[in-house]
Formats: sequence, structure tokens, C-alpha cells
Amino acid sequence: MPVVTFSAEGRDNCVVIAGTPYVYATVGGRGFVMRARCPHRGGPLHLAGVAEDGVRLVCPWHERKTSVARMRAEVPAVRVGGRVTAVFPERPAAGGWPAPPQDCAVGLEHRPLAPALSRPSRAG
Ligand code: FES
Repeated sequence: MPVVTFSAEGRDNCVVIAGTPYVYATVGGRGFVMRARCPHRGGPLHLAGVAEDGVRLVCPWHERKTSVARMRAEVPAVRVGGRVTAVFPERPAAGGWPAPPQDCAVGLEHRPLAPALSRPSRAG
């Protein structure tokens, strides 16, 4: 289980674990680390909207909804200032797409977030 510290926003705000990208997002004033790939067909969840119920993300490709609580539970994380430390799974939860390679390479890159996912947290 890789433990990685990275930027909550801006450059290097995306951790790529064995080919699966993760970003720090904020929904309903609460921050969390989420997989940036839709479990349906791999759509860009970092560009998702938030459903009217405020508890699910809406994928921009086919508009399937994904539970924020489920995504939050997948990656334990803590944010201190502008940095986030998270414990990543070596493989995404069931339903991840596509299946990651067997190695667990870790990389950092930039992914812009949809406005709905980048509103400031109420707590640090
Ligand atoms: S790829 Fe996300 S809904 Fe199809």
C-alpha cells in the first residue's frame, strides 16, 4: 500500500498508482482523495459534476453517478495545509477500469479539477 504526500492543488496534484490516477477533491465542504477514473469506462472523474443530492459525482462521459462516500472510503487521507498524505490501494476497488498493471509504479502529474470538485474545504 503506497503512502504518498502530494499537493492538494496545482502542479503535481494527481498521484498515479500503477496507472490509476487519484486527486484531492472537495464536495460539500469536505475534502477527500478520489480515483480520477470512472469505474464505468474510465471517464475523467476529476471533471465530474456533483449530483443534485450532493452525495454523488456525475461522470462527464455517460452521466453515471458514483457515491462520494464510497470513493472517500477507498483512500484514507489527511490534509495539512496545501499537502495531502494518502494511503493508496495497490489495485482500485472492484469495478475499477481498466485493470492496472501488476507493478505498483507511483508518479505525479497535474490534472485540472472541475469547479464543483475544487471548492474550498471548511476545515483545513
Ligand atoms: S465512463 Fe463514466 S459514466 Fe461511462
